[in-house]
Amino acid sequence: MKAGVSRKLPLDCLKILQPHFESVEIYEKGRPLDEMELAQAIKDKDVFICQLTEPINERVLSHANRLKHLATFSTGVDHLDLKALKTRGVKVSHTPGVLTEATANLAWALILNCGRRVNEAREFLKQGKFNGFFPSLFLGLSFERSTLGIVGMGKIGQAVAKRAQCFGMRVVYFSRRHFPVDGATQVGFEELLKESDVVSLHCPLTPQTRHLFNQENLSKMKPTAILINTARGPIIDETALVEHLKKNPDFQAGLDVFEKEPQVAQGLLDLPNALSVPHIGSASRWAREEMARICIEEAMRFARGENLQYEYPL
Ligand code: DGY
Repeated sequence: MKAGVSRKLPLDCLKILQPHFESVEIYEKGRPLDEMELAQAIKDKDVFICQLTEPINERVLSHANRLKHLATFSTGVDHLDLKALKTRGVKVSHTPGVLTEATANLAWALILNCGRRVNEAREFLKQGKFNGFFPSLFLGLSFERSTLGIVGMGKIGQAVAKRAQCFGMRVVYFSRRHFPVDGATQVGFEELLKESDVVSLHCPLTPQTRHLFNQENLSKMKPTAILINTARGPIIDETALVEHLKKNPDFQAGLDVFEKEPQVAQGLLDLPNALSVPHIGSASRWAREEMARICIEEAMRFARGENLQYEYPL
């Protein structure tokens, strides 16, 4: 069997995979592969390890004549045409579980940063504007008197809710299913928008959640609310968000993901009320190594003819 890996992983996958495959190719270009490169890379492979930046669509799959197992270095699978993969009989594995705490921690890093206006205050200091303690300088959120609204109460949403207890926040959540999470109340979407001081997104990107945060829903939120996105960029209509942030200077956004990654909507990075980081939610050393380990072990399991342990049901 032949294996391909679209980017260098945080473990030496060449060394680990080589004894198990006829050949292993790693296509590190210092950037995600484009569609043509992806099609070329996947062409003669039985097993392929891809990234969330690489849409595996019909066009790419039409070149993948031998492909039998696709391992994605991600939990999210919105970059994969699951229907086309199923039709072609390709097994899919992903990396759930290991990035829960890392992503919840980044969501909280953004919540705390925006809530206490750390980034704005740092800029102010850097610009030499600090002329002494002032009673109303950079007033921020009183966490213990505030409500956190979580959209999507899967593992990451629950980990974010758990941390909110340390800050004495009231927690409400919107989810299709009920989750018995200590101190968190399930509410309707409208109620969550109206009552939350902080809204943190932890739902997958689906046709139902694409642009869930559009102009209409953004305007239902408190004018002083903080919107956090460590899930997927297109859940927010980014152009509408930029407009909303411009019109409502007390509204804030903390973003780890963007609608058209790696592009960022025009004007977003210049806004003082938006704090943006480059998709680093799962970027703790342990989490990223575990994601690599899962991809590599799944590839080896497949090569040995064993059942996959992290198979995504198609
Ligand atoms: C995932 O795995 O889906 C994450 O977005 C990576 O951080």
